[in-house]
Amino acid sequence: MTLLAGIDIGGTKCAVSLGIQDGDQVQIIAKRRFLTLGSPVSTIERLLNDLEELLQEHVTVGPLAAIGISCGGPLNSKAGLILSPPNLPGWSRVDIVRPFRERFRVPVALQNDANACALAEWQWGAGRGSRNMIFLTFGTGMGAGLILDGRLYSGASDMAGEVGHIRLEPAGPMGYGKLGSFEGFCSGGGIAELGKMMAEKMFDEGKAPSFCHTPDDIDAISAEAIGEAAQRGEIDALLIFQEVAYNLGRGLAILIDILNPDCIVIGSIYGKQQAIIEPILWEELHCEALPHSLAVCKVLPSGLKDNVGDYAGLSVAMHQLI
Ligand code: BGC
Ligand code: NA
Repeated sequence: MTLLAGIDIGGTKCAVSLGIQDGDQVQIIAKRRFLTLGSPVSTIERLLNDLEELLQEHVTVGPLAAIGISCGGPLNSKAGLILSPPNLPGWSRVDIVRPFRERFRVPVALQNDANACALAEWQWGAGRGSRNMIFLTFGTGMGAGLILDGRLYSGASDMAGEVGHIRLEPAGPMGYGKLGSFEGFCSGGGIAELGKMMAEKMFDEGKAPSFCHTPDDIDAISAEAIGEAAQRGEIDALLIFQEVAYNLGRGLAILIDILNPDCIVIGSIYGKQQAIIEPILWEELHCEALPHSLAVCKVLPSGLKDNVGDYAGLSVAMHQLI
């Protein structure tokens, strides 16, 4: 039995988890979450302290063996540096591995968040048994982790799977990168932006959208609010999710044609809105992807659901010990 720690640094929230590895299984025994703080220094300090406290609360479980950190790219996993993730403004060339190594004196590895989630879903989630699997985050941002021929593929400079920045339309919402990108349409940030665009248009026409009551609230429109309206069957919110689903289909078709995966696992928003997204997604996949590739490809929601980020860090911790 081995004690591992996972650190997940997201654009919205951060998590610290402790897990016990037994063979190829990991059981989470404790975790803490908090909203990502304003600066890297304060966020890292909080992560270090939370981990230290969790370890003190679980001293009997044994000494810590390794730490895995998962974070949005671009990053340099070998140097342990977070370079400048678009969804972490103010984080530029942050040496993230060193403070953990110095405080806890164990091996520490850094991995792109989507890659780390792909490892976790492949080992313990919806991707079990797959040899060619793609994981798509579809949360605050959009990134992919690629398991190809039975191993993680991270590319020449940790940039494989940066699919969120592929442009699908010359114009469109931006997400964190480019106008009209895959992430621009298919991410929490992108959905909120689509909602803001729709709200402005409706208020101009003297109408109000179901997910925002006054023009003063336009800036506060969130993907969650639009998602809840869609669940209640509000037509305007459903139209937004239709556009998102259509673009998700276009993005997936490109990945299917290039990589011929047997399984695509989609995180966060897909699981919550699957009933609305899935039919439109498949309609688009049938139009765009090559039939011989599509015939062997399953598209599934995350099996680890809201815990995927915790397992992601633990999976990175475990993989560096192998
Ligand atoms: C980043 C990716 C990351 C994704 C999800 C994108 O903006 O470029 O590296 O995987 O967000 O966090
Ligand atoms: Na990636």
